[in-house]
Amino acid sequence: MKRIILKELFNNHQSYVGKEINIKGWVRSVRKSKAFSFIVVSDGSCQDLLQIIADENIDNYDALSSMLTGTCVSLNGLIVESKGKGQSIEMQANGGEVIGAVDDSYPLQKKGTSLEHLREIAHLRSRTNLFGAVFRVRHELAQATHQFFSNRGFFYLNSPIITNVDGEGAGEMFNVSTVSKAGFKKDDKGEIDFSNDYFGKETSLCVTGQLEAECHALGLGAVYTFGPTFRSENSNTKRHLAEFWMIEPEIAFADLDDVANLAADYIKHLIDHALKNCASELKFIHSIPFSDVDKNYVDTLKSVVDSEFKKITYTEAIDILNASNEKFEFPTNWGDELQTEHEKYLTDKHFLSPVIVTDYPKDFKAFYMKQNDDGKTVRAMDVLVPGIGELIGGSQREESLEKLESRMKELNMDLENYWWYLELRKFGSAPHGGFGLGFERAIMYITGMSNIRDVIAFPRTPGNCDF
Ligand code: 4AD
Ligand code: MG
Repeated sequence: MKRIILKELFNNHQSYVGKEINIKGWVRSVRKSKAFSFIVVSDGSCQDLLQIIADENIDNYDALSSMLTGTCVSLNGLIVESKGKGQSIEMQANGGEVIGAVDDSYPLQKKGTSLEHLREIAHLRSRTNLFGAVFRVRHELAQATHQFFSNRGFFYLNSPIITNVDGEGAGEMFNVSTVSKAGFKKDDKGEIDFSNDYFGKETSLCVTGQLEAECHALGLGAVYTFGPTFRSENSNTKRHLAEFWMIEPEIAFADLDDVANLAADYIKHLIDHALKNCASELKFIHSIPFSDVDKNYVDTLKSVVDSEFKKITYTEAIDILNASNEKFEFPTNWGDELQTEHEKYLTDKHFLSPVIVTDYPKDFKAFYMKQNDDGKTVRAMDVLVPGIGELIGGSQREESLEKLESRMKELNMDLENYWWYLELRKFGSAPHGGFGLGFERAIMYITGMSNIRDVIAFPRTPGNCDF
């Protein structure tokens, strides 16, 4: 008998009524009464669970009616309209078999367990209603990303993962090496000599694909990357991972306004796609009492799709923070970095919506950003969203060779290493810009999940690299 996936079954349930089918999945519960049993099964394809009624006269009834939660099962039966509340159809089993049994040490019993505990059994958590939902949303947002950029003529670039440049100049890189530490020689200056290492030079995992995206934007016009990104920053927070996924579009002939508008359109597209394609997932996640979002969060998200994103400069942001009566832990003088508490004040209390902050002081922004004429600020933008803070960082890039070189020298960077990046400014330079969106933060924002470890399959954080 043909196996039908539950998503297909529920999406087209009318056409299956009266038909005999096979389903396969994992048992969520079995309730045994005198002459029959109720078996509830999920196969992970959708939020809906199928209820199966097994009469005591069917083949293999003893084995099927005594299955424990977590058992993998194959069931055959007739699809009928359900009289029960909350479900359109159910199955009247006429037989089936256990594919994979469990014993009673299976950790996902019917009663809910904590998110912390589920992180420790990340190999099994995709079998829960919650994580099934989260990872289906994640999948849809990835599809929506490719759709969005591809429809707008952006080419997908697979930027390298192993690199010899620090694309952010922040020194938060994981080394890549095939030589054990003791195997390195030191040169006359006492510096490690990497010449006998695999690449003959010091290499790391990428912190961004931006510099390579700039190369291709100035050849193909518009590109985007979507790949894993690694940062060894020692931030053990609910919003930081050592390995996360980033989407980085880069466009030629663009200024900061173009970049900001693209960012707003992209975020709206992600939300809109999730609302249309993951309605039951979002409803389920938003109804769980663990995060700050409420049951009406879908309406909040809808309003974001319909609204124009507010745009303020960093200087205006500082003025707003100083005019508030809020007691912040960190200072808010002009020139201070905006901390999470400041970002959250702007989004969660002042604007109650996403906000784009532009023109930050150059001192805490990356070397490649276009310098403003004031000599103090750069054409940077961060998109801040409620509940999360920074979702996107981007900028117009410095296209003048002279200005870029002088900034890099100021920052004591090794210009030779970036020779190819500088040549972009030497050979047919053009105004261009782009941004990076933290994929996990976008999933957090849309699902309302409050810890970044719960929106990536197998999180890597300081001191934690299991699975
Ligand atoms: O602001 P960031 O550092 O910008 C860049 O990497 C630029 N190269 C982007 C560009 O212009 N092409 O990082 C971009 C975004 C952040 O806004 C945040 O959402 C996410 O990446 N991000 C992290 N997400 C999870 N864990 C971390 N450790 C992250 N660091 C940054
Ligand atoms: Mg940033």
